[in-house]
Amino acid sequence: CVQKRIFGAFNGGASRFFSSSAVSNSAKVAILGASGGIGQPLSLLLKHNEHISTLSLYDIVNTPGVAADLSHINTKSKVTGYIPENDGLKHAITGADIIVIPAGVPRKPGMSRDDLFNTNAGIVKDLAEAAAKYAPKALLAVISNPVNSTVPIVSEVFKKHNVYDPKRIFGVTTLDVVRASRFVSEIKNTDPKDEKITVVGGHSGVTIVPLLSQLNHSFTDEEYKALTHRIQNGGDEVVKAKAGAGSATLSMAYAASHFTNSLLRALHGEKNVIEPTYVRSELFAPDGIEYFASNVELGPNGAEKIFTLGKLSDYEKELINAALPQLKKNIEKGVKLVVG
Ligand code: NAD
Ligand code: LMR
Repeated sequence: CVQKRIFGAFNGGASRFFSSSAVSNSAKVAILGASGGIGQPLSLLLKHNEHISTLSLYDIVNTPGVAADLSHINTKSKVTGYIPENDGLKHAITGADIIVIPAGVPRKPGMSRDDLFNTNAGIVKDLAEAAAKYAPKALLAVISNPVNSTVPIVSEVFKKHNVYDPKRIFGVTTLDVVRASRFVSEIKNTDPKDEKITVVGGHSGVTIVPLLSQLNHSFTDEEYKALTHRIQNGGDEVVKAKAGAGSATLSMAYAASHFTNSLLRALHGEKNVIEPTYVRSELFAPDGIEYFASNVELGPNGAEKIFTLGKLSDYEKELINAALPQLKKNIEKGVKLVVG
């Protein structure tokens, strides 16, 4: 049944889900977890983003200092910092057009992303409760791991508050795309900006499936498998090299800044803004897998169009088959946390 569904999803072209409306000229972006390893460089990059009028930084510690520091940079946006005291979270997110969530603990060597669930699921759930109450219409981008589970957590919280709109909630998988582009360019001696690689599935180990067969490159079998393995395990490479001091922060900030900018471009009415991202998706829903990363066209109201996977090699079909049961488990775990 899974096999049949995969082939259904491979063919068929893009399916149109939603239509667009509001277009705004300047945006408020809130970062929750803004004092952390990702939060600080992400805030720095976004301070340079001309689409942003207000950059609202929230964390349980240190945001007043981070905000004061960034606020001296001579770009137009206003930077504000909030901590939990005096309804800080409420003020940080009220009126936000986009909320980006990098709050939570990172991995140490030997841990899987799923090992972060016990700590991070509760953090994301609490932040989602606040978002559902104070900014239910914001586009919400979840970075906190395990993304395969934290996105379903946010969705279930929004359902509980009767404000769920599946097209507004995203899991950020952009770092997998950034890595794929860089790793391929290193092998092929090309400019990474010309290497647009679709990465589908989820954001952990075997659930990360790069579609290298869709590139205009020929790889030896060995290269193809080694590249796939490296993209699937890029996060581990950094965790190992940081040797207990955390996981990817700088490359992640770059990736999140890129994804946030794509949301901003779409909010401002630009067409054909397409990013791979982990969303509520029909592609494998008949198999009980309700969230899946694939290319998504972004618009003012979020996910406008979810693209099917296109033509895959036999190897990529095998990779998808290996990803699905893992994704299913991760999604069920997230849903269970909220629904019980
Ligand atoms: P970090 O520990 O450096 O920073 C996390 C920040 O979250 C800290 O400043 C902390 O105070 C804050 N925080 C904790 N609880 C909070 C709460 N309830 N409300 C607001 N802020 C809170 O960690 P990091 O390196 O920035 O990583 C953050 C998360 O991002 C981790 O879960 C990591 O696994 C994940 N991550 C995801 C990707 C991806 O591709 N999606 C890539 C890298 C890291
Ligand atoms: C990554 O891919 O770098 C992140 O998900 C962090 C991690 O734990 O590997």
